[in-house]
Amino acid sequence: MAEKKLKIGIIGTGSIAGTHINAYIDHIRKYGDIEFVAGCDIVPGRARKFLDDSDMFDARDYLSAEEMLEKEELDGVSVCTYNRQHAAPTIAALKHGVNVLVEKPFAVTLDECIDMMRAEKESGKILTVGFQPRFERNMQLIKQIVQSGELGRVYYIQTGGGRRRGIPGGSFIEQRTAGIGAIGDIGCYSLDMVLNAIGYPTPLTASGFMTGYIGCDPEAYNGADRFDVDDFSGGLVRLEGDVILDFRISWALNVDTPGDTLILGTKAGLRVPSSDCWSDAPGGPMTLYWQCAGQSVQTTIPVINDPNGDWRGLWNRKIDSFLKAIREGGPAPVPTSQIIKNQAIIDGLVRSSKLGREVEIHIPEV
Ligand SMILES: NC(=O)c1ccc[n+]([C@@H]2O[C@H](COP(=O)([O-])OP(=O)(O)OC[C@H]3O[C@@H](n4cnc5c(N)ncnc54)[C@H](O)[C@@H]3O)[C@@H](O)[C@H]2O)c1
Repeated sequence: MAEKKLKIGIIGTGSIAGTHINAYIDHIRKYGDIEFVAGCDIVPGRARKFLDDSDMFDARDYLSAEEMLEKEELDGVSVCTYNRQHAAPTIAALKHGVNVLVEKPFAVTLDECIDMMRAEKESGKILTVGFQPRFERNMQLIKQIVQSGELGRVYYIQTGGGRRRGIPGGSFIEQRTAGIGAIGDIGCYSLDMVLNAIGYPTPLTASGFMTGYIGCDPEAYNGADRFDVDDFSGGLVRLEGDVILDFRISWALNVDTPGDTLILGTKAGLRVPSSDCWSDAPGGPMTLYWQCAGQSVQTTIPVINDPNGDWRGLWNRKIDSFLKAIREGGPAPVPTSQIIKNQAIIDGLVRSSKLGREVEIHIPEV
């Protein structure tokens, strides 16, 4: 007997929702085992227009997530709201017994993420966080190299990077909607890349800074009147196992790049060229630095040709893996048990920056 089709909805039908629905449409074309049944957005008319533009004429539109969750019998939702609205709809969906793929960053504060994880635990449903670079072959290679032991014991990581000029607009630049700027938007990706590679050790302390000089300057950025988040942030984080994480991330600064990612081990080191965003592949070929017969040598690691590893392909893998996890009852493709540590670092750096001193990081039990 054919399996029942999964009923899927979406909460928040702004820009990234289009990428989600395209991947769901690709999945329907390929497998035909899901139905896209509903969407909601707090802006009147936005969900209807979004569904119609996606040829989902039979899907229902709602103004509130609660109403959609009450009236529809959903198996899964994508939560595509701005950061400040990740927690509430995610918790509501889990309470209705619906599996959730929430967009990155996990949320804004550590406390919100803990509440989301408690709802996940109580519901027994899947909560996964939308990190599509996890599905990119060259990104996966970074973890394989570290895990192979080739670098020896990893004791220092520099990560971050980003761009010289590239402050997004829309809901990304205000406290009210985004809550955090570059540190959460693209910082979370670069943190995930390295923390995932070394097995997500627990963060212990953070000494952070956050600046927004370029975003606040009307001569440099034409959204300056609304801009009240960070455009260049970072800090020093101590991780369990005596690992130092040196992090800096930029939407805008007056130099070409705040740096490549460096993973230093006792036997070898790896350089990963920064990309503008870190939302897909590394910025170019990686280099391995090592000692051979007393000589300092380096090896270029050719970029792996990842068939279907382009932007659309990565999103298909992200959505397909969420749907597979729903069907199989888990595990979550990008588990909250890992991403809570990513968020704890961001939260620690934000707190430290506000206080002007180093802070301890404590992740509550869920
Ligand atoms: N994975 C990626 O590559 C990627 C790329 C872009 C954005 N994102 C993430 O996706 C999220 C959304 O980004 P965006 O560019 O689509 O923002 P956006 O502002 O274009 O869209 C957000 C939408 O959510 C709606 N909304 C807000 N609160 C709501 C609620 N409680 N219920 C229903 N609708 C609500 C807003 O009205 C808006 O239409 C952000 O967290 C962002 O970081 C991820």
